[in-house]
Amino acid sequence: MRLLTFFLAGCLAWAQGVSPSRSTPAPEYPRRVILDTDPGIDDAMAVLLALQSPELSIEAITVVAGNVPVELGAANALKLVELAGRTDVIVAAGAAGPLQRKLHTAEVIHGENGMGGVELPAPGRRLDHRHAVQVIRDLVEANPGQVTLVPVGPLTNIALAFLQYPELAAKTREIILMGGSAGAGNATPAAEANIFQDAEAAKVVFESGVPILMVDLTACAQARLTQKHLAGLRQSTTPVAKFVAAIAEPYLAFAEKFGNNGAAIHDALAVGMAIDPSLASTLTPVHVEVETKGEFTYGATVVNRQLTVERSEWRGDRFVLVDFPRIQPNAAYPAVVEGERFVRLFLERITREPAARK
Ligand code: BDR
Ligand code: CA
Repeated sequence: MRLLTFFLAGCLAWAQGVSPSRSTPAPEYPRRVILDTDPGIDDAMAVLLALQSPELSIEAITVVAGNVPVELGAANALKLVELAGRTDVIVAAGAAGPLQRKLHTAEVIHGENGMGGVELPAPGRRLDHRHAVQVIRDLVEANPGQVTLVPVGPLTNIALAFLQYPELAAKTREIILMGGSAGAGNATPAAEANIFQDAEAAKVVFESGVPILMVDLTACAQARLTQKHLAGLRQSTTPVAKFVAAIAEPYLAFAEKFGNNGAAIHDALAVGMAIDPSLASTLTPVHVEVETKGEFTYGATVVNRQLTVERSEWRGDRFVLVDFPRIQPNAAYPAVVEGERFVRLFLERITREPAARK
């Protein structure tokens, strides 16, 4: 399996070498979205925001191991679609661990059940019989150029889809991912958690040629849910709002232990950017490389904002710098976000009455 993965990665790299990266197409609403997630508290917020937003047509929710093991994450996703009354949405389980490394989970942040200890009723329906990678493939194949992938966990499922089906990247409209950092990391000083979880997968995705919006930690830090917001949310009596208020409590408490004012609701911001790209007041095109070898920097997203690289030539006894060729961006990141406007949008959607959803 590993050998096959390397072979497929090699084919993909070759294919990319001959095809320049595409530009991001303007969105058409409702946007067809596959939400790939590892629920997870902020994932649960992202799922509910997505399901309650008419700008998005959620074609499937695919689950990956990350914050919790994949079986638990998949059960959580099923419970969330039922909570939102959206049992029409496909839910499929995917990769149980990273492409090459051991799984890291984060129950200390998200709770043993991934939902901050808040229990939802057992789901009344089953997972789709297909693996998440197959679901991604089937939906993208059936709607070439139409489907936006919104991964908000480790990128294992997306990488596997591109590795197993090398033609799929060219048919994928766009990727809006929560992950990476143009500044410091959170899992390590250098790496953001979703990329750190599976940097080999992230490398495949960033090299896929699909236009990527990287909703990174610096963007997410501008979109914080605070105690003030939470107090407002507690006034709402809809089941979705009550659930989000309950899971937000331990999530904020964890972030506040580190002196933060409230907590960044990372994954929900990625969905917010799919709903309304104008939430980013500045979008910076960049070239991102994913570090997979570094002793201290594994999982770092190395962000080239200048879009040039140094080129040197060998002159017998040394390399001499000769010029600075331009390189193509493979991503953009929202350097400046209207964070408070996003949180208002989030709260408005989460507190919506079921009848007002469509
Ligand atoms: C990311 O890591 C996870 O714990 C969150 O769900 C989010 O996707 C933030 O770094
Ligand atoms: Ca997540």
